Amino acid sequence: MATHSVIESFQQAGQGHVFAFFDQLNPEQQKALLADASEIDLAEVAELNRTLVQKAGGAAGVDLSDLAPAPFEALPKNGGDTSAWAAAKQAGETALRAGRVAAFVVAGGQGTRLGYDGPKGTYPVTPVLKKSLFQVFADKLRAAGVRYGRPLHWFVMTSDINYAATTAFFREHAFFGLAETHVHFFKQGRMPAVGFDGKILLEDKHRIAMSPDGHGGSLRALHRSGALDLMAREGIDMLSYFQVDNPLVRFVDPTFIGWHLLRRSEMSSKMIPKAYPGEKVGHFCAQRGQTVVIEYSDLPKSYQDEVDPASGRLRYIAGSIAIHLLDAAFIRRMATGADALPFHRADKKIPCLDAAGNPVKPEKPNGVKFELFVFDALPFAKNPVVIETDRADDFSPVKNAEGLDSPKTCAEDQVRQFTRWANAHGAAVPVDATGLPPFAFEVSPLFGYDEDSFESAWAARATKPAIVAGTVLS
Ligand code: UTP
Repeated sequence: MATHSVIESFQQAGQGHVFAFFDQLNPEQQKALLADASEIDLAEVAELNRTLVQKAGGAAGVDLSDLAPAPFEALPKNGGDTSAWAAAKQAGETALRAGRVAAFVVAGGQGTRLGYDGPKGTYPVTPVLKKSLFQVFADKLRAAGVRYGRPLHWFVMTSDINYAATTAFFREHAFFGLAETHVHFFKQGRMPAVGFDGKILLEDKHRIAMSPDGHGGSLRALHRSGALDLMAREGIDMLSYFQVDNPLVRFVDPTFIGWHLLRRSEMSSKMIPKAYPGEKVGHFCAQRGQTVVIEYSDLPKSYQDEVDPASGRLRYIAGSIAIHLLDAAFIRRMATGADALPFHRADKKIPCLDAAGNPVKPEKPNGVKFELFVFDALPFAKNPVVIETDRADDFSPVKNAEGLDSPKTCAEDQVRQFTRWANAHGAAVPVDATGLPPFAFEVSPLFGYDEDSFESAWAARATKPAIVAGTVLS
């Protein structure tokens, strides 16, 4: 779009202030501002202002009518159908051998809670070798590629902000031994922040305050980046979606893939039983024939605390851990069709310029960011399946610098998992009541990345390795 028409469209949309300092900028800066501006869908912003920002009472209330707990497939040890789980595993293994599944990590978050300087995927996470999250995933992928006789493709979504640092990290580490042709980076979209009056905020005279559009932005970014076309060319019809902060995740899980396939599901999810009523996870719910995820902050305490009289367990027990399988065709439909994910409003402290061009460092929220959440795709999916998984095998995220879900708890959970695998095969690692040994050791995913692969590798060792402090099985 020509310069004057971009500026004009902003003026017509009541957002002309974005160009208030345009005449003071040098040509480079003018170009930067115009580039930011061209990314913005003004009609979308106007609609969000109307529906989310100007709405009385602030954030839109979540509709809780006709809500019920979502059904899920219980693990065999918890009463699930053993033969159905076995059939699923077989179907999933066949799909993996046929190269139908690719891994997909969303790594565009800003990781503010962890407070780590750099893309979260570069965080040193393993207990002994301090391998980065990206390396853990890469090692799992390499090992799974060998196991199924097909190297898997890996899609990595970054934000505009961490794209360069992420790709540089992979290059510095020679792609962790993966074929470069099988690792595909792309950027998610950005959304402008607005003040409570709906005016787009400036970060600088030549920069609009823009931020990543949420993990739900992955669906449109997969389409826009050409990733879906690449998948089609490679015969990949499913993406295994996971978050960058969770090194335990089994993202090459034949059983999960099999459930997805056998049920002809377009989007499947793993759940864990909530550890306690107020645990801060989303809740899988059913609503008028659809599966929905209701965030903990949107589900009233009375629902969170409700106990099912028959089982004595929490009624809304199914916690979401952001692990999904998505059909490529479904992603394309969501990205291009009439169905679109809804934006959520987040009130934030957004450094910006005031009308006179002076910098403002707000002490309390001064504006709104708009974000898309991937689980909002669930109600649009045909035959969505939710399966149970063991928390200890799939979920220990690094979210906070200290305390819950921190590097410390995550390292301990990794060691607990390695210990369970080893002790199940005759190692005698001493543990405390929580399953934690008095020392750290590490199992490389290249040795074993899940129970089955560990079992094969362990069996193949004529002399069983001694496990002591600092042992690394690789
Ligand atoms: P979180 O909700 O934990 O957010 O993201 P975050 O930005 O990483 O961390 P905080 O809240 O600032 O501390 C969950 C997953 O979604 C990805 C993150 O990278 C992480 O894998 N994500 C989040 C994106 O890829 N893009 C986004 O815009 C937001």
